[in-house]
Amino acid sequence: MLAIRLIAEPDRLDVLVLPVGAADSAELVPTAATPPDGTADEAAALVPAARLTGRAGEIHTQLRPGRTPGRMLLLGIGDGGEAAWRTAGAALARAGTDETHITIALPVGVTPAAVRGFTEGLLLAPYRFRLTEAGTAPTLDSVDLLLADPTAFETTIATARTTAAMTHLARDLTNTPSSVKNPQWFADQVAAAAADLPDLRLRVRGPAELAAEGFGGILAVGGGSATGPRLVELDWHPANARTHVVLVGKGITFDTGGISIKPVPAMKLMRKDMAGAAAVVAATLGAAEMRLPVRITTLAPLAENMVSGAAFRPGDVIRHYGGTTSETTNSDAEGRLVLADALAYAVQQLKPDLLLDLATLTGANAVALGKRTGALYSENDQLAADVLAAAEAAGESAWRMPLHNDYVEYLGSEIADLYSAPTQGAGSVLAALYLREFTGELRDRWLHLDMSAPSWADGDHAEVSRGATGWGVRWLLRWLASVD
Ligand code: BES
Ligand code: MN
Ligand code: ZN
Repeated sequence: MLAIRLIAEPDRLDVLVLPVGAADSAELVPTAATPPDGTADEAAALVPAARLTGRAGEIHTQLRPGRTPGRMLLLGIGDGGEAAWRTAGAALARAGTDETHITIALPVGVTPAAVRGFTEGLLLAPYRFRLTEAGTAPTLDSVDLLLADPTAFETTIATARTTAAMTHLARDLTNTPSSVKNPQWFADQVAAAAADLPDLRLRVRGPAELAAEGFGGILAVGGGSATGPRLVELDWHPANARTHVVLVGKGITFDTGGISIKPVPAMKLMRKDMAGAAAVVAATLGAAEMRLPVRITTLAPLAENMVSGAAFRPGDVIRHYGGTTSETTNSDAEGRLVLADALAYAVQQLKPDLLLDLATLTGANAVALGKRTGALYSENDQLAADVLAAAEAAGESAWRMPLHNDYVEYLGSEIADLYSAPTQGAGSVLAALYLREFTGELRDRWLHLDMSAPSWADGDHAEVSRGATGWGVRWLLRWLASVD
């Protein structure tokens, strides 16, 4: 990852970046450090000459051969808020790929939020997932931030770095092909990442333990695969914690749909069907790295939904953890079956204060909200508002959806407690209503995020690069930092 230094005086000036705001009209923003001789006047004259608008992410490059700095970049920072700085950081990282080192003079009185946004944009945008080494083109590898008081921003930078590193981890896990990524592999990755951090406890249950304890949903979904299911339980338990949060993430390492097999286009990207598990694990590791004073138990039910002679069938009745039964008319509605076990286990054994789950649960998420927005469900207005605020601040998009009680009747089965794949009602809402059946006493302290849509990007936009987005890590870390 890109190296970021906080300094008061520049020690090298290859490329100097000066911010241009867009308050009333575009104008050069006064910076804490005085730019070298003449550059400020030159930049001020360039703003109207180059017809700059100052919109966030706008970049004008001025070549200055034979002078120092040899290049000057004017960077639009819009209204100077955190989101605008994040966009500016992302644009700079993308534009700066033929530079290896740049120095940016930050505004007088720049806020920690602006520095956080800028740094997250810088660190997140250049992400690329490749299994072979790409060409050795030079890439931007260090950025110096010129500030009046560098030490005042050290924790801000550390937070941004952890947030970006954990987002990268979630992206890596999600991008990894399913020929590599089976349930045990995922559990091994969690173990390797957790080993670097103190005070984290990890337990991984295999098929025998899952059977002994009655995790029938995870076992049914994982039953058709040559690589059996696992349940990851990761516990961050700091001594000063007052609140206990349980995070649950859907971890289907590949979703063929099972016997109710998906058509080719729908199956193409189903290696991403563990993006919820990746997000909750990465956020928990981030919380441990930042030593956030909140207890977090993270559950990742991991299974590969395959077609084989051992696969569960449409119409089978499954007995979940705790005894509730589901008639499974469509084996492609597998996510809710593994989540149901994990939620029931959390409610009955862990008894947390708050229960959240993240899942690439339904194609209907994108039908309702498009490709960039998660569907949020909760009966708790405060919890919903807090998570929406965290998402807004983090630059991740979510929208609250209704848990319509009118549709509950569609979950009725003639032969079991519940019917897992109703064809009536709205797909994402019905999936949420199904999960709600497993939240017991925590029903009004539960929140569900259907993140099928924003877990993947078809192209680069701002700080998101194409492929797995790591969606959820950023808002989870913000929200976890605010829980007390
Ligand atoms: N993993 C899919 C949902 C999905 C779809 C994620 C597209 C990302 C992109 C999930 O397991 C699934 O197949 N859901 C079904 C549910 C239906 C059978 C009730 C769906 O959405 O069609
Ligand atoms: Mn499915
Ligand atoms: Zn799935």
